[in-house]
Amino acid sequence: MRLGSGRSGRWKITVVGSGHVGATAAQLCAYKNLGDVVLIDIIEGVPQGKALDLSESAPIEGFDMRLTGTNDYADTKGSDIVVITAGLARKPGMSREDLRDVNANIVKEVAEKVSAHSPDCFMIVVSNPVDTMTWVAMKYAKLAKNRIAGMAGVLDASRFRHFIAAELGVSHDDVHSMVLGLHGEDMVPLPSHASVSGIPITELIPPDKIRGMVERTRDGGAEIVRHLKTGSAYYAPGSSIAEMVQSVVRDEKRVLPCPVYLEGEYGINGIFMGVPCVLGSSGVEKVIELKLSPEETALMKKSAEGVKKSVSQLKV
Ligand code: LAC
Repeated sequence: MRLGSGRSGRWKITVVGSGHVGATAAQLCAYKNLGDVVLIDIIEGVPQGKALDLSESAPIEGFDMRLTGTNDYADTKGSDIVVITAGLARKPGMSREDLRDVNANIVKEVAEKVSAHSPDCFMIVVSNPVDTMTWVAMKYAKLAKNRIAGMAGVLDASRFRHFIAAELGVSHDDVHSMVLGLHGEDMVPLPSHASVSGIPITELIPPDKIRGMVERTRDGGAEIVRHLKTGSAYYAPGSSIAEMVQSVVRDEKRVLPCPVYLEGEYGINGIFMGVPCVLGSSGVEKVIELKLSPEETALMKKSAEGVKKSVSQLKV
């Protein structure tokens, strides 16, 4: 079934968690007129206040989407898209894995509650460690594998693209990149698949500079945490969520790197991990298998081992 069919014609997007990431995603979904947005949180007043504040920007920003803030899952009923941002964010010195046990319980509860009201939704999981949390969400929301993806590679690739564009002094529009694997230290940025208007970056940037950009991409989330000290990034994560939502709502069929459930692709089974996929109105419509070098394949294997270890240590 095509998502969003048979309804009022407007998409209903629920964002769980009204912190910085959730509120930024809600703002961008509204500003881009992607659908009506329900912002839900356990904290009373915050989703209501942020939804009203955003609504009051509508006359200036020129959008007509309805924003609702709530603490009641009944208000999320019949959502086409559910974005889960609930959970703790990192503080300086923490890895995403350090959040696993606390966030797994939160994501489990959210997945159960949200799917009771929106069993046919497309779910985007953002809470960290995201590859593992997406696995938890699929299990407890009982979603088919094409109805759920994590948000990670879109953000990592956007960071990589920014570093490339800044280094060369060229438009971000012309820079493409792929970042696969897990969303953590063992992520797999692929310089071999990064290009500027079709020109491989390996022809434009010396190898040591590329190595530096790859490392900076891997450390991209932690770099922001070190600056902010009290939490993690939210502008680029919010944009990344909105890009994924837009591809589904508008059936754009964008080719985006996302953690999706793998059953043999890239030789990986039974976990979520970042690979290029096509996002359209049916959800995850296709996984694209790239030809990787032996070195890149080894990095993907290492990433998969990291995700498997994390999932095996789950206590939910
Ligand atoms: C980051 C968080 C969202 O990479 O994991 O900033």
